[in-house]
Amino acid sequence: MPIILTGFMGVGKTTVGRALAEDLAIPFVDMDTYIEEQAGKSISDIFAEGGESHFRQIELAVLKSLLQNPDLNQAVISTGGGVVETAECRQLLKEQDQVFYMQDVFETSWRRISRHNPAKVQRPLVKVNTREEMLAKYNRRIPLYIETANFTLDVQKSNAFQTAKTIQRYL
Ligand code: S3P
Repeated sequence: MPIILTGFMGVGKTTVGRALAEDLAIPFVDMDTYIEEQAGKSISDIFAEGGESHFRQIELAVLKSLLQNPDLNQAVISTGGGVVETAECRQLLKEQDQVFYMQDVFETSWRRISRHNPAKVQRPLVKVNTREEMLAKYNRRIPLYIETANFTLDVQKSNAFQTAKTIQRYL
């Protein structure tokens, strides 16, 4: 089964996933990038055109197909922070055995995701929610990340390289 990274936006799932896959010399798939490649448009455009629910449907279909892909049996998959919003995605994650929830304080995520970015790159939910609304989302999701993960890692004091090494100790 693949190694799956979950956690809130801006926690470093993509950077850690890439480092981990490189260390282990196995494929790396970033779900958001994969969705953009498949759809031929940015996550922002998908949200703008069909709303969050449309994005969640695509996200579920992509998660399902990645987990069924035998070529990714040994791979690292980094998920989008909202994957736990969808009950079926949570169920798929619970069936896995190497799900790592990367946990950090809200402030760290917020600092990274609220940086001024070009519209295409800025996360759509950050564009339409206040800091307080994002914090509420963060708090609401914590139990969902925990219930779907096999391991919860406090990454507050680790850089991506160290977190990738920590994960390898659990494999
Ligand atoms: C989202 C997180 C994003 C992306 C989309 C929605 C979320 O992924 O999937 O903007 O709801 O938390 P990252 O966690 O990689 O930023």
